[in-house]
Amino acid sequence: MKRIKKEIPGLPVHIALFMDGNGRWARRRGLPRSAGHRAGATAIRKLVEDCDKIGLKYLTAYAFSTENWKRPDKEVENLMNLIREFLDDTGRELEKSNVRIRIIGLRNRLARDIIERIEETEKKTAGRTGLTFVIALDYGSRSEITEAARKIAAKCANGEMAPDEINEKLVSDNLFTAGIPEPDLIIRSSGEKRMSNFLLWQASYAELWFSDVLWPDFRIRHLLRAVEDYNKRNRRFGGVRG
Ligand code: IPE
Ligand code: IPE
Ligand code: MG
Repeated sequence: MKRIKKEIPGLPVHIALFMDGNGRWARRRGLPRSAGHRAGATAIRKLVEDCDKIGLKYLTAYAFSTENWKRPDKEVENLMNLIREFLDDTGRELEKSNVRIRIIGLRNRLARDIIERIEETEKKTAGRTGLTFVIALDYGSRSEITEAARKIAAKCANGEMAPDEINEKLVSDNLFTAGIPEPDLIIRSSGEKRMSNFLLWQASYAELWFSDVLWPDFRIRHLLRAVEDYNKRNRRFGGVRG
């Protein structure tokens, strides 16, 4: 397939994806799970580049959930090393690109050097105007909403605001995704059909697309197939058609 270079009309503003199926991809090849994760990391690099080329504004990728700490230590370490590599490379090969990087999720359980890499990458890319690539790392909607509730409760307790001033916008503004538009389209690879604690608040009116493709094989053409279907849908947001 030819590399896509042109902007594509009819794109949603924000696409969020689950990078799921690395383990199964590796198992089918008789390889260790780590090989699947490495191939998955290569797949997201390509996709980020292509999404920027076609003119997408926001892409969020679920890289590591708050529940993924349950995996064997070796696998967690392997995933964290891939994150390190990715963040380092954005300082090099993505140096000339116009992609802005943001990382959403809890920070307190990540290694000190990863937090430093995150801060550096976010700072370095903050002024960019192309695709915003949001990486969900140690991310879970429940902890995100809990954290927001805690922040708002603290403001009420110290008299900065009253409980009846709490509204949906305030809740949104206290989530990790503050300032990022809600996802229009959510894609999950690998045939699984569940939300696994991903963007539960933000996905209230998102369109969903499930692909059987295992993450390491997922390419821009698969994403564009989802976009094609998305464009045929009638988003009603609780109203009436038209
Ligand atoms: C996605 O692939 C990577 C992460 C969740 C970090 P999996 O590792 O979940 O792959 P499967 O679902 O076992 O195939
Ligand atoms: C969700 O995938 C998290 C990521 C894709 C990073 P999982 O593979 O962890 O989800 P479950 O356990 O199948 O629900
Ligand atoms: Mg999985």
